[in-house]
Amino acid sequence: MDFTIERLGQPKYISPITIKTGKQYVEDSLRILLNPHIKAGELPKTSLDKQDAFEVSGPRQKIFFQPAQTHAAIVSCGGLCPGINSVVQSLVEHLALRYGVTQITGFRYGYNGFVDKNSPPITLTPELTSDIHRSGGTILGTSRGTPATAKIVDVLVERKIDILFTIGGDGTLRGAYELYKEIKRRGLAIAIVAIPKTIDNDIPFVKKSFGFETAVTEASASVRSAFVEASSLRRGIGLVKLMGRHAGYIAAISSLAAGHVDYCLIPEVPFSFEGEAGLLKLLEQRLRSHNYAVIVVAEGAGQKYFTDDGERDASGNVKLKDVGLLLKSRIEAYFKETQSPVSIKYIDPSYLIRSAPAVPSDQIFCRRLAQAAVHAAMSGKTGLLIGYWHGELTHVPLVALGGKSQAINPKGELWFNVLETTGQPAQI
Ligand code: F6P
Repeated sequence: MDFTIERLGQPKYISPITIKTGKQYVEDSLRILLNPHIKAGELPKTSLDKQDAFEVSGPRQKIFFQPAQTHAAIVSCGGLCPGINSVVQSLVEHLALRYGVTQITGFRYGYNGFVDKNSPPITLTPELTSDIHRSGGTILGTSRGTPATAKIVDVLVERKIDILFTIGGDGTLRGAYELYKEIKRRGLAIAIVAIPKTIDNDIPFVKKSFGFETAVTEASASVRSAFVEASSLRRGIGLVKLMGRHAGYIAAISSLAAGHVDYCLIPEVPFSFEGEAGLLKLLEQRLRSHNYAVIVVAEGAGQKYFTDDGERDASGNVKLKDVGLLLKSRIEAYFKETQSPVSIKYIDPSYLIRSAPAVPSDQIFCRRLAQAAVHAAMSGKTGLLIGYWHGELTHVPLVALGGKSQAINPKGELWFNVLETTGQPAQI
């Protein structure tokens, strides 16, 4: 894979960060290997410098943009995620106070804010944004969907914007890649730097996305309640549905954290209701031996039980059917038929898990991501997102995403940990 990061031109200005902190900068040649594993006693088949590796983020010794003449812009798109305000706050602070950028514009309500005359952009300053990270949501507003790329680039040109930071998930990243290509086609010196955002944690080359830990923290309250309710009843079943369209990370990690979940159902591992090893029979056994059960299901699981009516949201995502309600009705019906009724407490925290402000670990992560994005942009790098790989922030070319997404490997360590913790069979 080619992980080369493109530059708008040779950086020729000494970075104010270097001046302030002495020799505190990162060389472009520093890399993090995509695959760090080695087999003891075996030499790698490819020499180390030819292996897939990411640039490491951080301040560069020289920068491309002259801060006092640089106009930066920020846009947040897609569904909410804890920490967007923290990223906006840190971007503004770092641009203005560390680099000395004096003009920062915030576009409103996602990419649509570039063309919607009713939502004019706002000027962002450190004073305006100093406290926003304490609140959930985004002061910029957000929306799904991307208007014509050419129109957005026209606006960037009209407003003399040099750098655009996009905060968003898969749809936003696709949009950012289109912008980068159109800018390149027109031969413009505008940097596009993306900060990946999603509670689903499904962006490739980003081991953990910001807001994920907060979402898990919020989801954990629901999982705890499900356990308390179920275990206090005779033949009680606590059922929790959590967000996670194609990737069940929130469900899996919340189940691991709780330690008292009996069945975790995720989109990556299909499950069956019927049969000796199916969910209904497993529940029957579990209730016989323990008198209660807790199920956590990711919203994208079990979609094979519904017919696809082709409904899509403005980002092009399939509108999912409610697997939580399906589970509830199938389980109730089964135990009614076997004349051994159960009491199901169904909890769907839905948007509650993503509207909270970022927890401290996410605040720190958001700050680090924003700072890395500013360093990359100021040095003239473009067409990239800030990745997170083996504990380090990296530069990932947008082209490398190639429409792929990250999901739980059913044969990997995380899912094995879940199986070990819940005690559920590998195949339900
Ligand atoms: O992509 C993140 C996410 O929170 C998903 O988990 C969820 O399915 C979706 O967004 C909900 O989107 P919307 O805000 O459009 O309802």
